[in-house]
Amino acid sequence: MPPTITTQPPLFDTADAVARIAAASRRTQQPQSRADLVSLAMGEPDFDTPQRVTEAAHASLRAGRSHYSPLLGEPALREALAARLAKIAQAPVSAADVLITQGGTAGLAASILAIVDPGDKVVVPDPTYSLYGDLVAMAGGTVVPVPLAPDLHWDLDRLADALTDAKLFVFCNPVNPTGIVHGREELEALAGLLDGTPTIVISDEAYADLDYTGRPFTSAISVDGLRERTLYCQTFSKSYAMTGWRVGYLWGPSPLIQASARVHNTFNGSVNTVVQDAALVAVESCAEDVASMRAAYEQRREIMRTELAKIPGLTLSAPEGAFYQFPRYDLDLPSVEVVAALRTAHGVAVRPGSEFGAQGEHHLRLSYAAGPEAIVEGVRRLADGLAALR
Ligand SMILES: Cc1ncc(COP(=O)(O)O)c(C=O)c1O
Repeated sequence: MPPTITTQPPLFDTADAVARIAAASRRTQQPQSRADLVSLAMGEPDFDTPQRVTEAAHASLRAGRSHYSPLLGEPALREALAARLAKIAQAPVSAADVLITQGGTAGLAASILAIVDPGDKVVVPDPTYSLYGDLVAMAGGTVVPVPLAPDLHWDLDRLADALTDAKLFVFCNPVNPTGIVHGREELEALAGLLDGTPTIVISDEAYADLDYTGRPFTSAISVDGLRERTLYCQTFSKSYAMTGWRVGYLWGPSPLIQASARVHNTFNGSVNTVVQDAALVAVESCAEDVASMRAAYEQRREIMRTELAKIPGLTLSAPEGAFYQFPRYDLDLPSVEVVAALRTAHGVAVRPGSEFGAQGEHHLRLSYAAGPEAIVEGVRRLADGLAALR
């Protein structure tokens, strides 16, 4: 007898936005860590937050700073960030246009929901950080992914076509997952493509402090033609090893900041007072901590690159920034299958390239925000796993 199939009506009628995110989302869960698993999957520093920052949070609590913060953020923190942004943008920056957010995630959410209407076209590179597509889906917009050139930089011809009538272009620099850094020339080319259009840009520079190219990092807000149309999205998570604190900020043209603040305040209210007091100490006195973590990542990048270069069938990406490498493998297997086999049979966790876009297929994302021993052992397991899958 064939089995009887009964279809249950859904228990609750949830919002279409939830179904849209679920349909669009390529995000995968981080694997549960086990004693015998080496993880090169994480998107966060393995360092602890600098002690000065932690102590500032203790002091803030002891001082009774347990009340609501102003909706746009603590004035002292906004002033300090405005001074920093003015140096980056090489232009005057008013603290009134700085919005403190609940991490980079909420800054991206607030800005995308403040800009995108149902049906709006939003262009993103493919592959890119997967949150952008999910947020655009939540807003009801249409994501147009643009495949990268073979060197994982932008394909400017394809980008030019895709940007026609786009409401928004969202990108990160340095790039999660590819580790590429878009330099001044590339950003100026983008400014040229957008000249005369009303397209808005979101530049997510979460990894700006992790650039190993030897050239000074170019922020989109330092480029004429981009500065005027760009929402700059930043977080304390990566530079200061503060992923669990949940603090970031937005800066950009006043009307876009006002609109983003409207969404952010509606969703989150204000950001934790104590966390902002600690973030101020990070901005004002942790440059050396940032530099020493950066130096450690740079060494680990070399270790990982040397080890990966020994594996047959892998084409390496140029690891210019962030803490990721994005090698392409030559097996005819989807990356989710490769990742599952590596984890279960070989005890190494990495992320599937397809999580970051269709063009990420046949790639793996490896993080070198892990200790040197873990990197060497993880890549050894990767080599064994790929050999076994051949
Ligand atoms: C490119 C990029 N932007 C933003 C974020 C989110 O950062 P936050 O922890 O501040 O929400 C991440 C986290 O992985 C990221 O990789």
